[in-house]
Amino acid sequence: MFLRMLKYGIQGPDAVFAFGFLLILSGTRICLSPEYIILFLPLFVIGFLGGSLMIIESNSKFRERLRDFSLKRRDPKNNQKVLDVGTGRGLFAIELAHKGCSAYGIDIWSNQDLLGNSLGKVKKNMKRDGIEVDFRYGDIREIPFVDDFFDSVVCSYLVHNIHKPSEMRMAIKELGRVTKDGSKVLLADINPFLGPGWTKSVWKNELEKENFKDVEFNNFLLTSVIFTYVSKKEKKSEGFIGKSSCD
Ligand SMILES: C[S@@+](CC[C@H](N)C(=O)[O-])C[C@H]1O[C@@H](n2cnc3c(N)ncnc32)[C@H](O)[C@@H]1O
Repeated sequence: MFLRMLKYGIQGPDAVFAFGFLLILSGTRICLSPEYIILFLPLFVIGFLGGSLMIIESNSKFRERLRDFSLKRRDPKNNQKVLDVGTGRGLFAIELAHKGCSAYGIDIWSNQDLLGNSLGKVKKNMKRDGIEVDFRYGDIREIPFVDDFFDSVVCSYLVHNIHKPSEMRMAIKELGRVTKDGSKVLLADINPFLGPGWTKSVWKNELEKENFKDVEFNNFLLTSVIFTYVSKKEKKSEGFIGKSSCD
């Protein structure tokens, strides 16, 4: 039962352990030396709230509700090629395959971001669901697919791991490169959606510079979700200086 609750892995295991440690340490001090309660109570509260937040975000029900909210808006169609970047345990990729898409998932399977993260674990989830997904090792900053390959891309809870603006720009460029003109792109992450410290207006600006259009921000419980489209036609016409009609 507990394992099913954490089907998609524990997010940020280092932070969970740090909050847990703070909780136990301050709780023990309060019990042993109640006269220091003023000192240790705030630490206890921080440990409790921080740890609970991380566990709630890792909970399968929460993650599935976030996924369903996001996919409802994206409405993936049968046979579309959809990429889940930073797929982890396959939260989006496996569901997209259930919806009839040709689903792909890439990840670097970092253990700092998700406890026990591995290609083997996501394949186990896939086999349990009796579904086919093409999972491969791949970094968002250098996506291992050719140009214009995907009809849609989703990327959930990855961007908070990219701290350098230059690397985030590389990632945005890569998302644009591997998607077709008009493709839908979804980026979801913990609220507030900062990535490398960017505000919403910086995000909008950076995405628009790479020809993403209709950038829209939504909130879903503890998560911010960006919906946007790739617009390659505008990019191609940038250098056009002639008349647009024959008259
Ligand atoms: C917190 S997990 C989220 C997993 C899944 N998308 C979800 O929402 O449940 C973040 C995932 O991003 C992956 N990741 C981190 N940096 C990455 C990068 N540069 N390229 C690809 N994946 C990355 C991690 O290995 C991890 O699996």
